[in-house]
Amino acid sequence: MPDAIYHFPQGFLWGTATAAHQVEGGNTNNNWYAWENEPGRIFQGQKCGLACDWWGGRWKEDLENAARDNQNTHRLSIEWSRVQPRPDQWDDGALEHYRQIIRGAIKVGLKPMLTLHHFTDPLWLYENGGWENDAAPKYFTEYVRKVVGALHDLVDFWVTINEPDVYVTSGYVGGDFPPGKNDLGAAFKVMRNLLKGHAAAYKIIHEIQPNAQVGYAKNYRGFEPARAWFLPDVWITRFNNASFNDAFSNALVNGTLKFALKKEYVPEAIGTQDFVGINYYTLDKVAFKPFAVKDVFSRRFYPTDSEMSETGFIANIPRGMTAALKWAHQFNLPIYITENGVEDSKDTLRPQYTIQHLHEVWRMANFNWNVRGYYHWSQVDNFEWERAWSQRFGLWGLDLETQRRIRRPSVDMYAEICRQNAISSDIVRKYAPQVFDKLFPG
Ligand code: BGC
Repeated sequence: MPDAIYHFPQGFLWGTATAAHQVEGGNTNNNWYAWENEPGRIFQGQKCGLACDWWGGRWKEDLENAARDNQNTHRLSIEWSRVQPRPDQWDDGALEHYRQIIRGAIKVGLKPMLTLHHFTDPLWLYENGGWENDAAPKYFTEYVRKVVGALHDLVDFWVTINEPDVYVTSGYVGGDFPPGKNDLGAAFKVMRNLLKGHAAAYKIIHEIQPNAQVGYAKNYRGFEPARAWFLPDVWITRFNNASFNDAFSNALVNGTLKFALKKEYVPEAIGTQDFVGINYYTLDKVAFKPFAVKDVFSRRFYPTDSEMSETGFIANIPRGMTAALKWAHQFNLPIYITENGVEDSKDTLRPQYTIQHLHEVWRMANFNWNVRGYYHWSQVDNFEWERAWSQRFGLWGLDLETQRRIRRPSVDMYAEICRQNAISSDIVRKYAPQVFDKLFPG
C-alpha cells in the first residue's frame, strides 16, 4: 500500500496528444512543407519527412501502446490539405484513412478528441494569403462541414483550432512560423479571421451533432511581473496577459476581440465554447522595456533560478499550471489540459515535470473545479515545427532511421498514474524522488 495518494476525480480522462503534420509524414501540400523548403527556416535544414509514419500505418503501434499503458483517450488532428488538396477537390480516400485511425483508437479504448486545425494550412490557401484572406473562414467552414459530416458517427469531442495565439504571434509577430511576418496589422486580421472560423465551426458541429463538446486549445503562457513593486512591469505584464492569454477567449464571452492595439466586435463568437482547452508548458517574467516597440515594450525571461529543460525551451514552473487553471475556471465550463509536457531526450526532467504539473491539476480538481482530463504532449517524439527533431517531447522516443519506438521510464510512470487514476507516494518515490518532499512534506 502507498503511504499517501492523490486521487483524481472518477471518470478523469488520461491521454496523450499529437498533431497530424507532426506524426503523419508525407504532408507535402501545406504551408509547413513550403516553409521547410525555404533555406534557414527550420533547425539545421531538417525535414519532417516520414515523421512517425502514421500515414504509413504506425499510428496503430502508438495508439495500442497508449491503450496498453492505461490511457483512455487520445487527441489527434486532421490534416486539411489531405482532405481538400485543391479548393475544388475533396479526397474521400483520406477521410476513409482517418476513419480507420479513429476506429482503431476507439477499438482499443481511446476516446478520440479531434482537432480540426493544428497550425497547417493547405498550400492553395497559403498561396492565397492564408488567414489574412477574408475568405479563409468560409473555406475553413466548408472543410469542417465535410470532416464532421464524415466522422460524426465516431467523434463527438472537437477542438476547432489549436493555439490561435501561437499561430498568430509566431507567424505574424515573431516570424518563426510561416509566413514569417512581423506585421501587427496582419496579426490582427488573422486573429479575427481565426475567431470567425472558430465560431462558424462551432455552429456547424452543433448543427450536425447537437450533443457534441466543442472547444479550442489555448496556449496559456504564465506571465509574472519581473519586479512586483515596479508599476511599469506590472502594467506590461497585464498587457501581455490581455493580448496573449485573454484576447481570443474573452471574445468568446463578449464578442469583442481586443488584440494588437485594435478592437473589433465579432458577435457570432459569443458563447462558442463548451469546454476550455489549456495547453500549458511554462511561464515568463516580464519587465517593461522602453523603446522595444517590436517586442511590445517587454523583455520576457525565465525566472533566474529555474530548472531548465534540455534545450532551454521550457522552465519547469508548475505554479504556471495553477495560474492557467485559475484563469480557465473563470469561464465556468469543463476544463481539459489539452497539452502539457517537456522536451527531454534523456528523460531526466520529464518524470518530475509531469508529476509536479499533475499535482497542481489534482489540487484544482480537489477544489471541486471542473477539471476533467489531461493530455500529455506527446505519446512519441515527433516533428517539432521550426525546432524539428532537436526537441524530443515523447513519452516514447523515436529512432528516426528505423522508426523504432524507444520506451522511456516516463512511459511506465504515466501508465501507473493512469492505472491508479492517482499520483501515489510510491510512484513519486520510484520515478521522481527529487520532488518527493515537495509533494509529501512531513
Ligand atoms: C503545440 C504543439 C507543439 C508543442 C511543443 C504546442 O504549442 O500545440 O504542436 O509540438 O507546443 O512545442
